[in-house]
Amino acid sequence: MEYRELLVKRESVRSYDPTKPVHREVIERILEAGRLAPSAANRQPWKFIVVTSKELLEKIYRAYERPWFHDAPVVLVVVGKKNEAWVRSYDGYCSVETDAAIAMTAMLYAAANEGVGSCWISNFNPSILREVLHLSDSEEVYAITPLGYPKADYTPKGMKERKPLNDVVQWM
Ligand SMILES: Cc1cc2nc3c(=O)[nH]c(=O)nc-3n(C[C@H](O)[C@H](O)[C@H](O)COP(=O)(O)O)c2cc1C
Repeated sequence: MEYRELLVKRESVRSYDPTKPVHREVIERILEAGRLAPSAANRQPWKFIVVTSKELLEKIYRAYERPWFHDAPVVLVVVGKKNEAWVRSYDGYCSVETDAAIAMTAMLYAAANEGVGSCWISNFNPSILREVLHLSDSEEVYAITPLGYPKADYTPKGMKERKPLNDVVQWM
């Protein structure tokens, strides 16, 4: 797919067909995009948890109770490892959230390239996920996304509501 086409095609999908699984090799290609993502000092301070088991999915859904999310056959969880991330010496800034966001972004575009729907979700209940996924104190969930094929009646938005370039760019 052309890069520009992919940029437009990726959109937040809030419709998933629960009867259509995403095959493991497709998920692996999506994960590979996260693996290849850049990170500060190449620390790769992340873990990608792929939830496909029905039992675990039921528990994950409790952290974000939306009917469309409940339909997703796969949930991808991006975990940042705070104790592995690069820290800027000048002011103590830790890059873990930035690194996790870059990996997540790469995987969302890889999913779109595979025709797989996704939706970045931050509005989850972190304590539920922490408990369900048995995370350590140094691990944090920074983003989750459903992965799945949209329902047959889903119409892609096909356009982006974005500020014009002139509003967000400053040439100096
Ligand atoms: C950091 C971040 C957090 C988000 N959290 C949520 C969320 O909790 N629930 C949701 O439905 N969408 C969430 N979104 C999706 C945004 O609403 C969406 O990306 C934005 O409206 C632009 O639409 P598009 O993704 O279709 O281009 C989130 C997106 C980002 C980048």
